[in-house]
Amino acid sequence: MHVSVAEQSTAQLGGPLSVLVRQKRDHVKLNALLQELEGTHDRQQGEVLRRIYRLVFPHAFAEEAVLWPVMRRVLPDGGDLTLEVEQEHQEVNELVTRLESLEEGDPERGPLLNRLVEVLREDVRDEEDTLLPRLQERVAVSRLRLLGVAWEIVRGTAPTRAHPVVARRPPGNALAAVPLSVLDRLRDAADFALLRGPQPPAGALQRASSALRRASHAVERLPLFTRGEDPSTSTARR
Ligand SMILES: [Fe+2]
Ligand SMILES: [Fe+2]
Repeated sequence: MHVSVAEQSTAQLGGPLSVLVRQKRDHVKLNALLQELEGTHDRQQGEVLRRIYRLVFPHAFAEEAVLWPVMRRVLPDGGDLTLEVEQEHQEVNELVTRLESLEEGDPERGPLLNRLVEVLREDVRDEEDTLLPRLQERVAVSRLRLLGVAWEIVRGTAPTRAHPVVARRPPGNALAAVPLSVLDRLRDAADFALLRGPQPPAGALQRASSALRRASHAVERLPLFTRGEDPSTSTARR
């Protein structure tokens, strides 16, 4: 029986460099943000959601690019295990894309938000209770630390927004990382400036943000970036 990452100490998980400790730390932050989200509305809800997206998308992108390929190499059932969390990630990407297309106050938002919270919690449970303890069983502590460093580097440079069309597996996702990350971070900067107050350039910033959104949607549709995709996590199937 595997011991959940949630129930192990930092030392048991391989120390502060270990990918298991870094994963757990982000999951704790996510849990706090999901609790904060409850009972929020309008602008305040938008703020909390933005912080959730900034945490979740680079975190998951780095899992898909760095961790799950290792799981598939070291575990005989790694393919099935990782496909399940990739499907959860895909659903999160699709839910957020849909949410971002709706106006505040749209009645469709409530059920979508509830489902988003539910899938994010399921994803954390699957990783902490099953995938990560299985990885821990198969690889040495020194490798958990190396994976921790690699995961952190990719996370720090990964896209920060929902990209449902991009492959959830290499090579597509790894190839897409740089252009999408640049576009996402420019858009984050434009949106942050907009949030700071409706000064005269607000219209220009809004147009810049919309142009960046269109650019990133065009980029993620390039066939190169859907390479490696499992059919069950492809948006084209819908
Ligand atoms: Fe995770
Ligand atoms: Fe995840």
